[in-house]
Amino acid sequence: MISAAWAAPLWDARRYAKRIFDASMDKFLVKGPVRLHGNVTISGAKNASLALIPACLLAPGVFTLHNTPNNRDVWTISSLLETMGVGYAFADNTLTLDSTNITSHEAPYEHVKKMRASIYVLGPLVARFGKARVSLPGGCNFGPRPVDLHLKGLEKLGAEIQVENGYIEASCKRLQGAHFHFEISSVGATVNILMAAVLARGETVLSNAAMEPEVSSLAHMLVKMGARIDGIDTATLTIQGVDELHAVTETTIPDRIEAATFMIAAAMTKGDVTLGSVNADHLTAVIQKLEESGATVVVRGDSIRVSMDTDPEAVDITTMPYPGYPTDSQAQWAAYMLQAKGTSRIKDVIYPTRFGYVPELQRLGAEIETGDAYCLVKGGHRLTGASVMSSDLRASASLVMAGCIAEGTTEILRVYHLDRGYEAIEQKLMRLGASIERVSTEEF
Ligand code: UD1
Repeated sequence: MISAAWAAPLWDARRYAKRIFDASMDKFLVKGPVRLHGNVTISGAKNASLALIPACLLAPGVFTLHNTPNNRDVWTISSLLETMGVGYAFADNTLTLDSTNITSHEAPYEHVKKMRASIYVLGPLVARFGKARVSLPGGCNFGPRPVDLHLKGLEKLGAEIQVENGYIEASCKRLQGAHFHFEISSVGATVNILMAAVLARGETVLSNAAMEPEVSSLAHMLVKMGARIDGIDTATLTIQGVDELHAVTETTIPDRIEAATFMIAAAMTKGDVTLGSVNADHLTAVIQKLEESGATVVVRGDSIRVSMDTDPEAVDITTMPYPGYPTDSQAQWAAYMLQAKGTSRIKDVIYPTRFGYVPELQRLGAEIETGDAYCLVKGGHRLTGASVMSSDLRASASLVMAGCIAEGTTEILRVYHLDRGYEAIEQKLMRLGASIERVSTEEF
């Protein structure tokens, strides 16, 4: 269990977590226009952390995860694991998890409804303990997000699954390796089935598996834990199941979506920003689009410099699974194209209704039309500050970026969406010259 040496950081960490959770109704006041310039350090990847953390359910012991981003989703999944008996401490971006004594195999609705990735406990629990009870996640702010592939994959490995009273109940003696083909490339389903397969008996082949860097980072950690996985970074993962795994120390990869957000914000504000601690290989599609729009992008080792001094060319994007243009950077691109010299088409084939930010950008004066799974952004219109509402994590980022170019003050309500996935985003932006005030709930 958690050692006495962790007590002090644990206390501080809890206090910080409370601050983040209390901030549920905080708002931002963003004053524009500004040009962003300077250096920013990119945090560890939220979506990688959300896979690495539940992987600790696969083996008893103390796991140390460096470069873990300090955001709300990380606290949510850590506190979910705590309800299962996992002790944790979080300080200076190092998360320590002790999975020695797992006392529950259940993920209750109150946790899962806060964050869909809570379903990632399903695969590890059923693989190691032969049973799991996990609430169904339900919909989300950008449309239906089913979990059928997670369940089909586990059934293929021999789990018995029932859905009753809003809960997925999974059980088995020991999972058995099998060939499972993902009809749709799914990050979440690949993560869940991969974690299950590493402890299954025999060989599992996962075809059309998601190739997102966050999936590969999980696979690398599982290999360190003693798993046998071939085909990492490809769409076919071949896993030879092992009887047991062990705890490890791992470092979380850089957040490519946070990086894309800052890169696009730099170009959008006609700024000059150097990002540090970033992996440019994960950002090829975004870099290519930025260059097409006229931005200068210079990659040097683990840093990327983005600069821009004119209005961008209008550039269309269509989201695709990795290595295509990420859906998680779609809303930011739409905000960028508000400055463009023409009309650009933003199409999202992964989440066709992920355009909740459009009416909010329109409140700032944006000219955007929506269609079937796309929107048309007419660039070159003057934006002026107004009150807008965050609808989801990346939509909120696009509103902050638009606030940075709009004249006057933009009030962005419900920034807890931003706190879910970005570590101290307003502080990072302010160090680059943005003018952002966080007004906490008690103050209004
Ligand atoms: C993950 C990311 C999210 C990102 C998304 C797409 C995490 C924690 N979240 O979400 O930020 O926007 O990938 O890159 O990593 N689908 C099904 N059935 C399923 C599962 C998915 O039909 O069982 C569909 C989805 O509706 C969607 C597509 O598959 O159209 C891809 O979704 P998926 O990759 O699973 O997204 P998430 O893992 O939920």
